[in-house]
Amino acid sequence: MADPVHALSRAFQEAITAAFGAEHAGADPSLRRSSHADYQANAAMALGKRLGRPPREVAAAIVGALQLGGICRKVEIAGPGFVNLTLEDAYLTRELADTASSGRLGIAPAAQPETVIVDYSGPNAAKEMHVGHLRSTIIGDALARVLEALGHRVIRQNHLGDWGTPFGMLIEHMLDLGEAAASQELSVGDLDAFYRQARAKFDGDPAFAERSRRRVVRLQGGDEQTLGLWRQLVRESTRYFESVYRRLGVTLTEADFAGESFYNPMLLDVLAELGQKGLARESEGALCVFPAGFTGKGGEPLPLIVRKQDGGYGYATTDLAAIRHRLTTVGAQRLIYVVGAPQSQHFAMVFATAREAGWLRPPARAEHVAFGSVLGADKKMFKTRSGDTVKLSDLLDEAVERATKVVREKNPELDAEAAGAVARAVGVGAVKYADLSSDRIKDYVFDWDRMLAFEGNTAPYLMYAHARIRSIFRKAGVESPRGVGITVGEPAERALALELLRFGAVLEDVAATLEPHRLCGYLFELAGSFTTFYERCPVLRAESEEVRRSRLALCDLTAEVLAKGLGLLGIEAPERM
Ligand code: ARG
Repeated sequence: MADPVHALSRAFQEAITAAFGAEHAGADPSLRRSSHADYQANAAMALGKRLGRPPREVAAAIVGALQLGGICRKVEIAGPGFVNLTLEDAYLTRELADTASSGRLGIAPAAQPETVIVDYSGPNAAKEMHVGHLRSTIIGDALARVLEALGHRVIRQNHLGDWGTPFGMLIEHMLDLGEAAASQELSVGDLDAFYRQARAKFDGDPAFAERSRRRVVRLQGGDEQTLGLWRQLVRESTRYFESVYRRLGVTLTEADFAGESFYNPMLLDVLAELGQKGLARESEGALCVFPAGFTGKGGEPLPLIVRKQDGGYGYATTDLAAIRHRLTTVGAQRLIYVVGAPQSQHFAMVFATAREAGWLRPPARAEHVAFGSVLGADKKMFKTRSGDTVKLSDLLDEAVERATKVVREKNPELDAEAAGAVARAVGVGAVKYADLSSDRIKDYVFDWDRMLAFEGNTAPYLMYAHARIRSIFRKAGVESPRGVGITVGEPAERALALELLRFGAVLEDVAATLEPHRLCGYLFELAGSFTTFYERCPVLRAESEEVRRSRLALCDLTAEVLAKGLGLLGIEAPERM
C-alpha cells in the first residue's frame, strides 16, 4: 500500500501495544497531514485520557517504542502531545517509484476478492427513465468501476421493471396503434406519451380496461401470442435505454439486463420455501412475511406482501426471488442496491426476510446505496418547465449544447472535430460529476452554470487540469518520462507527492463506504496541490536537468492519477481542451 499513512499507522499500533499492553492495540493512531511536518499523530490525546496520564508523557512513551527506521527521518513531540513526523526522502522516492512504475498508481488488488453484484439503473419498460434512474445509473456505474479496479468480480444487474399489471393495457394500446407505429414511438424514446395514452384509455374506456385485464391474465398464463407482443414492447424500450447508456458512457450492456420477469420461474419456489420455514402467512387474503423489527405507526407488525389478494406477485416477491438467486445460485458475497432513498424500508424488509430465511448469512452482506433527489433551481423536484419528467436524451442534448459554448470560449483554437469530442465529454462529464460529487444521501440542486464552470469542484475543472498537464509535455516537445526517479525537495512538491500516494487508499475508502464523492473530493484536492506546485516550482526551467526530469515525472504521475480517477467515475479525460 503506497499511502505512508498505512505504514505509519501500523508502526504506531505496534508502539502503543509495546508501551501500554495489548489491550490498547486497537487505539486509533489518529494520523493526519500536518502543516509543521508531513504528518502528525494525535493518538496520545485520547490514550492519555483513557489512561489518566498526561498526553505528553504518553506521547513520549509511544515515541520511545516507535520503530520507524527507514520510514521517518524526524519524529518530534509538539505542544500538549502531538507527534510530528517527517518522512525519509528515500522512502518517499521509493513509494513514488512503486506507484508510477507498476502502472497501477498505488491501487492494490483486494486481499480477498469478492463476487459483488451491483444492482443499478433499473428503469421501467415503456416509461421514461426519470432523474432517479439517472442517479442510480451514474452512481452504480462508478461503484462498479471502482470495485472492479480493486480486483473484485463485479456482476452488473439491471433490474428492469418489465412485468406486472400495466403490461395488459400497454399491449392492448400497442395493438390499437399497430405494431409498426408503436415500435416507432417507443424506439425514439417517446415512452411517456405511449404510457399516458394507454393509461387515459384504461381510465376512460371500460371496454379497453376489460381487454387489458384479460390481456394480463393471458400474459401471466404464458399465452404465446401475448408473450410475443410483450417481448416486442420490452425490446423497444430496452433499445432506447441502451442508447441512453451509450451516450452516457456507462458500462451497462444488454447482458446485464435481468428484469423482474427473469425471476418469474423462481417465484413459486420462493413462496414454498418461505412457507416451509414458517415465515409466510395469510393476512386479509394476501400472503405476507412479517420480518421482525418492522412495525407500523400503531405498533402493528408490517407486512411484506409476497402474494396479493388477486393471486398476483409484486415488486417484493420479485426482489425476494432476486436476493435468493444472487446469494444461493450466483454465490455473491456482497449485494449492492443503488436505488433512491424512498425505497429504504422496502430493502430493509427484503434483507431482513433473506436473513430469516437463511439466505443472507455473513460474510455475505447486502447494502442499500440510497440517494436523495435532484432538485430544480426552485428547490422542488427537478422537472421541465411544463412540469413533465425531464427526458434524459433531451437533458444530454442540452448538456452537450451548453458545453459546446463553454469549450469554444475557453479554447477557440481547437479544431471543429476535437471541439465536438471535447464538448461531448465535458457535457456528459459535467452532469455525471455534479451527481457524484455531492454526498449521495443528500438532495442536490441541478445547476447548469455551476456544473459547467471551470472553477470549483467540477468536471470541467478537473478535465482541464489534466489537459493542461498534458500540454506541458506537448509544448516542450518531450515525452512523458517513465521510470524516472522522483525526488521531492520544495514543500509544494512534497505536498503534491503525498497527495498522489493517497490514491489507492481513497479507492478503498470508496469501496468500503460506497460514497463516490470521496474520490471527487480527492481529485479536487489533488488538482489544487498540483496548481500550487506548478506556481511555486519551475518545471521546464528547473535549476538542473535532474530536477527538471523529476518534476516532469511528478507532472506525468499527476495527470495519470487524474485521468484514472475520472475514468473510474465514468468521465473522459481528453488530452487537449
Ligand atoms: N424499477 C425500480 C424503480 O423504478 C427500480 C429497481 C431497483 N432494483 C431492485 N432490485 N428493486 O423504482
